[in-house]
Parts: sequence; C-alpha cells; structure tokens
Amino acid sequence: MEAVRIRLEKIQKTFIHRIKGEVTAVDNVSLDVEPGEFLTLLGPSGCGKTTTLRMIAGFERPDRGRIFIGSEDVTDLMANQRNIGFVFQNYALFPHLSVFENVAYGLKVQGKEAAEIDREVARVLELVGLAGYERQFPHQLSGGEQQRVALARAVVIEPRVLLFDEPLSNLDAKLRVYMRSEIRRLQKALAITAVYVTHDQEEAMAISDHIAVMNEGRIVQIGTAEELYMKPREAFVAQFIGRINTLPAEVREFTDGTVTLALLGRSFTLSAPPDGLVAGQKIQVFIRPEAVTLTREIGRDLITGVVAERTFLGEKADYLLEMGEGRLSATAYDPLRHGTFSVGEKVGVGIDPGVIHILKEGGR
Ligand SMILES: Nc1ncnc2c1ncn2[C@@H]1O[C@H](COP(=O)(O)OP(=O)(O)O)[C@@H](O)[C@H]1O
Ligand SMILES: [Mg+2]
Repeated sequence: MEAVRIRLEKIQKTFIHRIKGEVTAVDNVSLDVEPGEFLTLLGPSGCGKTTTLRMIAGFERPDRGRIFIGSEDVTDLMANQRNIGFVFQNYALFPHLSVFENVAYGLKVQGKEAAEIDREVARVLELVGLAGYERQFPHQLSGGEQQRVALARAVVIEPRVLLFDEPLSNLDAKLRVYMRSEIRRLQKALAITAVYVTHDQEEAMAISDHIAVMNEGRIVQIGTAEELYMKPREAFVAQFIGRINTLPAEVREFTDGTVTLALLGRSFTLSAPPDGLVAGQKIQVFIRPEAVTLTREIGRDLITGVVAERTFLGEKADYLLEMGEGRLSATAYDPLRHGTFSVGEKVGVGIDPGVIHILKEGGR
C-alpha cells in the first residue's frame, strides 16, 4: 500500500472547560506530514497535542479547518471510516480477550475470514516479537508486552495512518528507550505515515523524522531534531528542546556583520547576528550547557565562576555555577577522563562567541 500524506488546514478546537472556562485547545494549526514520515507533536502538558491527534483520528471534530488523508477530505468522516491505527497511552486492550482475540478484533469487524485472520494475526505478532503469546491474557503480560499487543492491534488492519498518544509513558526508562526504537523500526518497515505525541523531548528527538513543537494550542516550529536544537527560532523552543542558559545581555555595538555584547561582565563579539539590533538594546542570549567549557586555569582573560551545585551522571557531570552576575549551567562530558570539580571550587569558564545564540526577536 502507498503511504499517504496527512494535511491539517487551519484547524481550530475550543472546549468549554468546567474550571478553566473557554479553552482554545488547538489554535489555527496547519501541518503537512509527508507520505511515510514519522512526525512528532511535542510540547508541555495541555498544549493541545492529544486534541490535535484525536481530530486526525476522528474522535473529535474541529470547529474550523479541514483534515486530509491522502487526497481525501476526512473532516466529516467518522473515526471508523478513516482507516487509522491508534495506539493509546493506557494500551486500551480488552481485558477479557486473549492476545489473539485482541489483535483479531479489528479484522473480525472488517468481516475477514477465519483463515485470513489467523494468518494476519500470526504475521503481526511475529512483527512485534510476540509469536507464541496468542493465548495469554493482558493481565498476564508485562507493560512492554501489553504495549506490543496494542501496536499489533493497530497495524493488523493495515491502516493508512498510525497515530500514537504518549504510548511509552507507562513503561520504565530502559524499556521506553527500547520500545521507541521498536516503534520506529516497525513504522519504517511498514512505511506507514505516523503522527506521534509526547511531552518528552528526548523521545521525540530519538524517534522522529520531524518534530512539531507546540505551545498553547499552536505549532511554534517544525524541524528535524538537529534543526530545532541548533536553530531554535523562539525562546520557547530553545528552552524546551534540550537544556539552555537564558542570560541577559546588552548590545554595545551593532554593524552589518557583527554585534558586540556585554554579557556576564565581559565583552563578546559575534558574527552574523540577526538584523535590527541597536546599541543600548537589552536582549536575552542563549547558551547550551555543554558549550560552556570549564578549566582549572584561572587566567586573566577567563571568566570565573564558583561551583554551587554538582550532579554526577556517569558519562557527564552537570554544574550550576555562581557567576556574580547570575548563574550558569555547564555540562562536562567524560568526567572519568577529565575529572570533576567540587562544590565551592573556583573554576575558569570558557564561552566561545560562536556558541552564543541570539534569536530573531531578540529573545523576548
Ligand atoms: N474534552 C475536553 N473538555 C474540556 N477541555 C478539554 C477537553 N480536552 C482537552 N481540553 C483542554 O484542552 C487543552 C489541551 O488539552 P490536550 O489536547 O489534552 O493537551 P495535551 O495532550 O498537549 O496535554 C487543555 O487545556 C485541556 O484542559
Ligand atoms: Mg495528551
């Protein structure tokens, strides 16, 4: 089967919430998911991810806007007419049905013959690594196995589109990492267009071709994990994808090619700044913790800080540095080789001008 494109055109959904009053859960969202692509909606709790996904599935109807699957406008179609596989956070398996019957359910609804159902169920159970589990019941399975049954049930009907709503959040950390690569492998093997919802940025970065970052009902930026990390367009994206220091700075001098900033009591000259900065302007700049280098040399040209907190994490150590003019997070990799710094220790802090980000809107 050919993979299909999903297109959302300016969809809008408002709820009347008992406590919050009128809530625009999804605000004028437009989105193209290319055939065979794995796209993730990423954002904090309440930003409208589930509502967007449920509208694609047909569980919720947009107040405005259109939804296309392939060339078909499905906005007015019922969920069961859209040929979509949906994997829920809580698995939503039938507790009184065996694994076989859970997976066979959709095929029975489609009126398939017994022999074909046997064949298809066996094929997808093999695909998700559950061959031999046919007669088990959900309560006899681990969380990871239940999630595989949910996955098998979603793909057995050969859906045009696969939708996932936080499918891994009930699993422990190691299994989450394992299952996300399984989901990715399965989606690529089946070449089905997929939309995945998570609030976990690492999961989104690991599993997706593209990520659409959502905030307050809107998509604020779409890109690959790398694009979002390297070139965030808004402070929200910079802060949500990975960790980042947000620091106040002042523009000293702005020419076409460079800008000189006062930052952390020092002067930094950056090339290729965004347009429109003026001398005297107060802006915010952004620096990734791993871009800050720490040394034991306390030279005259180096900025210094005092270690206020240290978190040892094995492959890296995170530091919170007291800088006199505020605080700075720094991450140092490979502490086994390079050693660690202690709380209270004075350290040299290296910030290469190239790692200082200024966002287009000046970061406000
Ligand atoms: N059925 C509903 N009735 C009222 N408000 C809702 C309903 N569903 C979602 N909302 C509200 O819409 C907003 C977005 O919710 P949701 O799409 O579930 O966010 P997310 O999945 O990103 O956490 C939230 O403010 C939520 O309270
Ligand atoms: Mg949700």
